[in-house]
Amino acid sequence: MPSTRGATSLAAGQLALELATELPRLGIEPEWKAQQRLWGHPFHPMCSYLASFPAALAHAFIARYSRPGDVVLDPFAGRGTVPLQAGAEGRIGVGNDLNPFAHLLTAAKVEPATPAEARTRLARLRLAWPGAAARWLALGAAIQADPGNGGREPVPSEVALAFHPTTFAQLLYLRDALDLHDHVDRFLAAATTGILHGKSASYLSELMPNTFSMAPRYVRDFAARTGFHSAERDVFRCLGAKLDRLYRAPLPASPGIALLGDARDAGARAAATLRVRGMPDRARLVVTSPPYLRVVKYGYYNWLRTWFLGFDAAAIDATLDDAHHRAPYLVFLRDVLHGLRRALTDDAIVVMVVGDVATDRGRTIHTGMGLAGQVWSEAAAPEGYKLAGVALDEVHAGRKMTKLWGDEAGRATQLDRILVLGATELGRRRALSAAALPIDWTWPPRLRAL
Ligand SMILES: C[S@@+](CC[C@H](N)C(=O)[O-])C[C@H]1O[C@@H](n2cnc3c(N)ncnc32)[C@H](O)[C@@H]1O
Repeated sequence: MPSTRGATSLAAGQLALELATELPRLGIEPEWKAQQRLWGHPFHPMCSYLASFPAALAHAFIARYSRPGDVVLDPFAGRGTVPLQAGAEGRIGVGNDLNPFAHLLTAAKVEPATPAEARTRLARLRLAWPGAAARWLALGAAIQADPGNGGREPVPSEVALAFHPTTFAQLLYLRDALDLHDHVDRFLAAATTGILHGKSASYLSELMPNTFSMAPRYVRDFAARTGFHSAERDVFRCLGAKLDRLYRAPLPASPGIALLGDARDAGARAAATLRVRGMPDRARLVVTSPPYLRVVKYGYYNWLRTWFLGFDAAAIDATLDDAHHRAPYLVFLRDVLHGLRRALTDDAIVVMVVGDVATDRGRTIHTGMGLAGQVWSEAAAPEGYKLAGVALDEVHAGRKMTKLWGDEAGRATQLDRILVLGATELGRRRALSAAALPIDWTWPPRLRAL
C-alpha cells in the first residue's frame, strides 16, 4: 500500500495498473473536469458544501443514463447537486440526506421560490425592518455584550463576534421571521446561509472563508489577536444581490423532491413520496457519493450556518454516518444498496462516487485505498448488483473539503473511483452500451433535447 505522499505522486500508469488488478475500467471520459468551475444552473453554488461534487459530473451520468421524465435519485444528496441537475435536464430529481442543512439546501433548489415570490417576500421583510429594528438592535447589543445573555437568547460568542451590530440585529430578525417549512422563506434562508461568511463585500462577515466555518476556538483567538471588527453589511441588500445571482437563469425545467432521512431507507421513502405525487415511483438512475470515511464533520464545519437555521451542529455530527471505520462502513453501504433496490427499475443504473482516502485529518490511514473495490465485493455484489466497471476521477490535491486540515490534509482524497453498477444484468448492459455516448455540454441545455 503506498504512503500518503506516494499516493499523491502516483503516476497515471501506476494507477491504471493498480486498477487493472482490481476492477474493470469503464470508458467514460472525465469530461466534467474540462468544464468551467461554475458549469450548470446558478442554484448549484447557492451555498458551499463540503465534499460536494461538480454539477458537470452529475450531468455526465444523467445525460448518458436517463431520459427526460425519468426519476433520478441520490440517497446522499448533500447540497442537492444531483436532484437539481436532474431537474434542470427535465428529469424528476429526488434527493435524500440525513443532515437537515443538506435537506434545506436541496429543498430550496428542487422546490424553489419563483423570482417574484422571493423578491416580494424580501421587500416585505425590508419594509418591516425599521419598525422592528429597535428591538433587534437592543437584543443584538445585549448578546454581543454577553453572549450567554442570561439565558434569554443564548448565542455562541463566536456567532456574536462575527458580525457588525446592525448586521447581527438584522440576522436575528430574519432568523426569527423566516419559516423553514414555507418554500419561499426556505429559499431565502438557504440563500442567506450562502452569504453568511466569505472573503468579499458580498458576504455578511469576512471573519471566515466561504467554504466552511473555521473551528470556533480558532475564530475566537483570531478575533482577539487581530481586534477583528466586522464591516457593516446590510442583510437585505446583500440578500437581494444574491437573489439576482441565483436568478440569472430560468428555474429548473422540472421540480423535484427533497427527503430528510437515513439513506438506508431512502428507497422506500422515495417510492412512497413519488407515488403520492402521482409520479413514476422507481428510479432509473442513482448518482451518489456516500460520506467519505472519517473525513467530514458537517455540523462542526458549518456551525455559523446551523446557528442561523436553528439546527444543532453537535446533534448533526452525532447522527451522520461519516465516522465509521472500514468494516461497519461497508455494512452500512450494503444496507443502503439493499434499501435502494425497491425503488429501482429493472434496468436501473447506480453510479457511486467513492473517495479513496489516504489521510484522516492529516494522519496517514491505510484503509481507504482500494475502497471502491471493497464496496463492490462486500456491499454491492452480495446485494445482486452487476458491475459495469469503474470510471476514474483524479481529485486535485487542495480541491474540495480536504483543504480543511491544511497542506497535509489537502491530500486526504487523491482519487475518486466511480463505480457503475446495474440493478440487474439489463442495467449493466445499458451502462456499458451508453458509456461511450457523446453528450452535449452546452449550458443551458438545448430545450429540444428535453
Ligand atoms: C459526500 S457528501 C454528498 C455530497 C453531494 N454529492 C453534493 O454534491 O453535495 C455525503 C452526504 O452524506 C450525508 N450522510 C451521512 N450519513 C448519512 C445517512 N446515514 N443517511 C443519509 N445521508 C447521510 C452527509 O450529510 C453528506 O451530505
